[in-house]
Amino acid sequence: MADNAVFDPPLPHLSSIPPSTPSARTCAGELASLLGARAHDFAIEWVACCDSTNARLVDAPPADDGRVHVLVADRQTAGRGRRGRQWLSWEGASLTFSLLWRFAPGTPAPAGLSLAAGLALARALEQFGVEGVQLKWPNDVLVHGDKLAGILVELLPMRGRPPAAVIGIGLNLRLPADAAIPDQAGVADLAGALGGALAGEPPSRPALLAAILGEFHRLFETYAAAGFPALRGAWEQRNAFADLPVAIRGESATLYGTCAGVDDDGALLLRTGDGVQRVLAGDVSLRPLMDGAR
Ligand code: ATP
Ligand code: BTN
Repeated sequence: MADNAVFDPPLPHLSSIPPSTPSARTCAGELASLLGARAHDFAIEWVACCDSTNARLVDAPPADDGRVHVLVADRQTAGRGRRGRQWLSWEGASLTFSLLWRFAPGTPAPAGLSLAAGLALARALEQFGVEGVQLKWPNDVLVHGDKLAGILVELLPMRGRPPAAVIGIGLNLRLPADAAIPDQAGVADLAGALGGALAGEPPSRPALLAAILGEFHRLFETYAAAGFPALRGAWEQRNAFADLPVAIRGESATLYGTCAGVDDDGALLLRTGDGVQRVLAGDVSLRPLMDGAR
């Protein structure tokens, strides 16, 4: 596919971002050719640097042209996680991107979206032979229990329009030896996760992104047609804390119980002494209660 199909038209809302470097252009071209016929479904912008790919798409969403808009950055200066937390990444050692997904008119506000996104990412990683991929409710991808990737879903204000969401993904490819990530017990990178399989050399970012976008496309067609219930079983199969004791930390209280999976809306089901309680993602964090819990 020609370069201009990737950058055409240059997205006006991105005009404040420094122009793409040759390497960003090469990556975008590689991605387009790997996507093949699928490239027409996506409008891809690959930039050298921006504050946060989520912030760019949330603050100035591109006009709807029927394609899924994807913004990839070699480097982010203000990567964000949930509730104002920071996402750290290193140029050339991380994959950081966001996509803007629009739902059909009449669709209700999407439920279980970050879980569906986690599943798409998990499946893409499995395609590369990554073993031990698990999902931590609501938004993390773990490998052998350590955090490999995070997902940040932000819904755009509807203002009478169909629902639309920005789905941001940060994936560690090769963490620098001196990476200091605050408040995270265990972190992983793809090079380590692949171990012997590919001699620790992670796939290129365009190759990874092509696989991830392909999985998103497949899975979100199902999600758009049948909602999260159609994906729930596949999510549960990868639930890192199935039947394990967990704490759910909220702003003012902590709930303790056993993780009993998720419901059709993607809410966590927590088995407690008082029965099964539904927990909505909002302002809560799940933490394992036992050493070695996976
Ligand atoms: P929660 O269970 O609430 O989602 P979380 O610790 O995963 O908890 P998030 O807001 O989802 O919190 O993610 C942001 C957190 O991720 C940061 O506070 C930091 O601990 C961790 N983090 C930041 N950068 C990375 C990274 N590159 N790899 C792994 N973890 C990271
Ligand atoms: C989390 O674990 O809280 C989610 C982290 C999400 C990080 C990605 S990196 C690309 C996109 N841009 C951001 O600022 N955040 C997301």
